[in-house]
Amino acid sequence: LDNGQARSPALGYNTWNAYGGDIDEDLIRATADLMVSSGLKKAGYHYLVIDDAWSNLQRDDQGRLHANSDRFPSGMKTMADYVHSKGLKFGMYSDAGSHTCLGYPGSRYHEKEDAESFADWGVDFLKYDNCWAPASDWVIDRYTAMHTALNGTGRPILYSMCDWGVGDPWLWAPKIANSWRTTGDISPNWESMLRCLDNTIGLSKYAKPGAWNDPDMLEVGNPGLTEQEQRANFALWAVLKSPLMVGTDLRRLSKTALEILTAEEVIAVNQDKLGVAGDLASSNARQVYAGPLEDGSRAVVLFNRHTSGTQYPLSNVTVQWQDLGKGWICFS
Ligand code: DGJ
Repeated sequence: LDNGQARSPALGYNTWNAYGGDIDEDLIRATADLMVSSGLKKAGYHYLVIDDAWSNLQRDDQGRLHANSDRFPSGMKTMADYVHSKGLKFGMYSDAGSHTCLGYPGSRYHEKEDAESFADWGVDFLKYDNCWAPASDWVIDRYTAMHTALNGTGRPILYSMCDWGVGDPWLWAPKIANSWRTTGDISPNWESMLRCLDNTIGLSKYAKPGAWNDPDMLEVGNPGLTEQEQRANFALWAVLKSPLMVGTDLRRLSKTALEILTAEEVIAVNQDKLGVAGDLASSNARQVYAGPLEDGSRAVVLFNRHTSGTQYPLSNVTVQWQDLGKGWICFS
């Protein structure tokens, strides 16, 4: 989407993978503080996105959404102000159906007033989920309605579709959103990560500045993936030009996870100005992912793919020059 947003993939933090619906305003303030003090902000992670469970269970009499009175008593404008005061950008979440996946009000047929509320509060990023929509209500219509409403506010808001790959979004979403999901949800295990990766293979041609494939958020730092698996998650997502959304408890972030997430050269590949997504370049027992960079070199990920229960045998990975073109930077 040519709205000036996400000229390179979004870098940020989202509450879902770490906390599910167990969120409140103290947690958001602490997370904002930690994004700064840990060095994540300095590494480029600018968005702090509150996922599902932020609102009251009912709209008010005027049909407006409000922050959950128990868990966010200060309200969303105050949250946005706090996040902005840290030099970060503020992201929120809603749903293109009648309810969010956790049963809070969705924005379908309330797109205009919700987009206005988001703009009034100072929202910079909207993640838009896909629960509770009847099959008869066409996915393109539902996602276009919020596109139009966001546009109508006049506020620049990054529009992150969370469609789960329903209706082949890569074919139509580049015109209406800044990213679209290529997959169902990731969970913190290797098979799930591979499924998200595999569902994104072959889609690089649809990505460009302002419009990116999203194989779902990162699981780096979460129990369930080994250190090597977390490195693979990060390197592969970077070369695919996926949004890099951290989803782990920053209060317990290990040094290793922080090192993975702040690896300067990997982030530079993801944010490269050329804006061409990498893709699977060759595949046998091991895989090679590659993509071009602005300076004429190519980023290459050598991926020692294994299946559950197997060890990580050290392995030679053969790369053919003709698969890569000239010049390369390599992460393995
Ligand atoms: C489904 C989405 O795919 C997740 O990322 C998360 O937003 C949950 N819904 C929230 O209920």
